[in-house]
Amino acid sequence: MLLWFGLAVEVTSVVGFPEYTHKFILPPETAYLDHHLLLAVLKNSVVYSMDKEFTTYLNLQITDGPLAQAGLSSINQTSREAFTSLDWYTMRVDVTVMDVNDNAPEWTMVPFPYLSVVSSAAPPNTLVYKLQARDKDAGVNGEVEFFLSDGGDGRFEVDRKSGHVRTTGLPLQRDTEYLLTVVSADRQGSRSPPAILSIIAGPRPPQFTNITYSISIPENTPEGQPFLVTPAVSFQRQPVTYSLLINPSSLFIIQPETGEISLSRTVDYESDQHRYLLLVRASENQESLSSAAEVRVIITDENDCVPEFLQSIYSKDGVPETVTTATSLLQVSASDCDSEQNAEITYYTLSPDFIISAHGTIFPAGPLDYERPNHLYEFVVMAVDGGDIPRTGTATVRLRMANVNDEPPEFSQPV
Ligand SMILES: *[C@@H]1O[C@H](CO)[C@@H](O)[C@H](O)[C@H]1NC(C)=O
Ligand SMILES: *[C@@H]1O[C@H](CO)[C@@H](O)[C@H](O)[C@H]1NC(C)=O
Repeated sequence: MLLWFGLAVEVTSVVGFPEYTHKFILPPETAYLDHHLLLAVLKNSVVYSMDKEFTTYLNLQITDGPLAQAGLSSINQTSREAFTSLDWYTMRVDVTVMDVNDNAPEWTMVPFPYLSVVSSAAPPNTLVYKLQARDKDAGVNGEVEFFLSDGGDGRFEVDRKSGHVRTTGLPLQRDTEYLLTVVSADRQGSRSPPAILSIIAGPRPPQFTNITYSISIPENTPEGQPFLVTPAVSFQRQPVTYSLLINPSSLFIIQPETGEISLSRTVDYESDQHRYLLLVRASENQESLSSAAEVRVIITDENDCVPEFLQSIYSKDGVPETVTTATSLLQVSASDCDSEQNAEITYYTLSPDFIISAHGTIFPAGPLDYERPNHLYEFVVMAVDGGDIPRTGTATVRLRMANVNDEPPEFSQPV
């Protein structure tokens, strides 16, 4: 990052010349800051004969540009390094820019949209709403002020420092909506986008904390266990009652007093629908004031099924000793009643004598031996699904060897 700016420079002491002072202005964009190293390029500002080693005492007054915006007004530091080429020379000063004003304030009021009420008989100076904004800049750059930019018919004013919106005392028209456009700005003049505040001089319906809600719940969510609350606030400070205007398959229940939503029965991802749209109503004062919010519920698959092999034992007799690692000996197969990656199966075996492919085909890992107890190889194969917490099914494989020493190799069946 290279920041260009202007400087007022005062050289206050030069070694060997204690009385020397020199002041001059660097116009905007003649000095720059690069990785916290300030290079003030001074043209035709010879303060001292360059053929001597010297130490200057720099007092830089910052007049312009990003450093000034960052609240840095002076640098007072010794410079020991200077060089010249003809009539130019450079001074290096290490500075640390704590903060550059590059963030505009952001509104932080909730819920959205910004709504309020006021009694039409409210006296002057009645608090109606509190504006709030945050500025990511530190220090003085982060201090936010508030302004009424439009609307309100002179009936409301905004306190610049606190952001409090108050009545001015001009008469308020009952049941009229006043729309105020407000802005916030930091001390360097960076402005937030304008916000609209709606004030009704009378009652207004409850406001949900969100315009829409959306939530994903696992398929094994127990019935009756609340998985979402959709609270609404009453502007009249009255109790709010909740109900479901749209409730697909009567699958959902809402607590009338709290707005807690739960399932009326458990759902199965494999057999039930995955997406539901609900409409929640909040009402007060015997339903004379009500509003509605959409709730989207998405059911997600849980790894609730275990992979199952089609047979618990797979066996094959008469396997000739002459089989190679390219000979497929047996095919095993498992299935999983979950969906997608929860149903993706990988096969494993712990036997050092056999290999199992991704598709469940078993091959010898090396030469097989007829001379073993009962001429039998017996081992376990596993099917593991792709769930976050994988589930495993097992089966047993038995391969009985045939003695084909004196005979040419021959398969008992085509493979
Ligand atoms: C600059 O710093 C020196 C030493 O820290 C101090 O004596 C001097 O008064 C300062 N000058 C200004 C203009 O702040
Ligand atoms: C409600 O709105 C907030 C802010 O937009 C959002 O972060 C949150 O996820 C929403 N809640 C639901 C349940 O959708």
